[in-house]
Amino acid sequence: MPFRSLAIAAAVLLAHVAAAAQPIVIKYSHVVADQTPKGQAALKFKELAEKALPGKVTVQVFPNSQLFGDGKEMEALLLGDVQIIAPSLAKFGKYTKVLQIFDLPFLFDDIAAVDRFQGGPKGQAMLDSMKSKGIKGLGYLHNGMKQLSAQKPLKTPADAKGLKFRIQASDVLEAQFKAVGGNPQKLAFAEVYQALQTGVVDGTENPWSNIYTKKFHEVQKVIMESNHGVLDYMVITNAGWWDKLPADVRTALNTAMVESIKYGNKVAFDEDSSFRQKVIDDKKATVMPMSKQELAQWRDAMKPVWAKFEADIGKDNIDAALAANKN
Ligand code: LMR
Repeated sequence: MPFRSLAIAAAVLLAHVAAAAQPIVIKYSHVVADQTPKGQAALKFKELAEKALPGKVTVQVFPNSQLFGDGKEMEALLLGDVQIIAPSLAKFGKYTKVLQIFDLPFLFDDIAAVDRFQGGPKGQAMLDSMKSKGIKGLGYLHNGMKQLSAQKPLKTPADAKGLKFRIQASDVLEAQFKAVGGNPQKLAFAEVYQALQTGVVDGTENPWSNIYTKKFHEVQKVIMESNHGVLDYMVITNAGWWDKLPADVRTALNTAMVESIKYGNKVAFDEDSSFRQKVIDDKKATVMPMSKQELAQWRDAMKPVWAKFEADIGKDNIDAALAANKN
């Protein structure tokens, strides 16, 4: 082989070796703070994935809507601009209707019931509900039960009449607040604090970890302990990207994902009450317990929402969710 050809061959070989040595960059983007269950799960995934695949992968975590906020993150995932996201189960309406089940008010008694449903056959099948759209569900991740908040006590549904509520992008949540005479407005998570502060909306709903880390309790006068619905996530990836990963990398990433979700779920279970306590200790908003009678009124007012979405969700799924309430 003449020297020139040899040199070219060597250069091509070197380029291949260099390319093979380049770590796969995995961007994991989300909208909440690092201290929350989702924030902690994302950081744990980085730690475990990089430990299992040294030099082969680099995981970049972007919290607080730094890279993509609501609305953009799903498109970005499909375009390949981000590889892992974990939107709230309320935000998949454009891609599948079955996940609307998680927004039905007063369906699940608590996060333990949600956990049982997600781990059961119906819940597991829902991880594949967006397969045809190119979205792969890697697992469910907990945050917590939602609490209603406003600038005044919301003891009965009548107290919500005429109030503007920020909601996630969910038709079920829209129907939920309309059912009590409220005026729901879909807003991205990154806009909530300002919307509450400036009075664009009067109230909202979120779990304790989000309320505390985003300081919603500093711009709301009252937080009702309503536990009326769940805010959980599905960790998803671009199915095309995932399927093209080298098999050993995919297996190791899957293990890291499973472990990181377990870790995040432990944070959700263990720290929900301490986030609640921090909100109370801050003394910025009054945290109000709700009586059984008050909650029954809210349940009665909001329950008609179930029937409206039953055909899309499937009665069999709703029955399985109800069964999960009984341990
Ligand atoms: C919200 O928009 O209120 C939540 O979905 C944010 C989150 O990711 O917990």
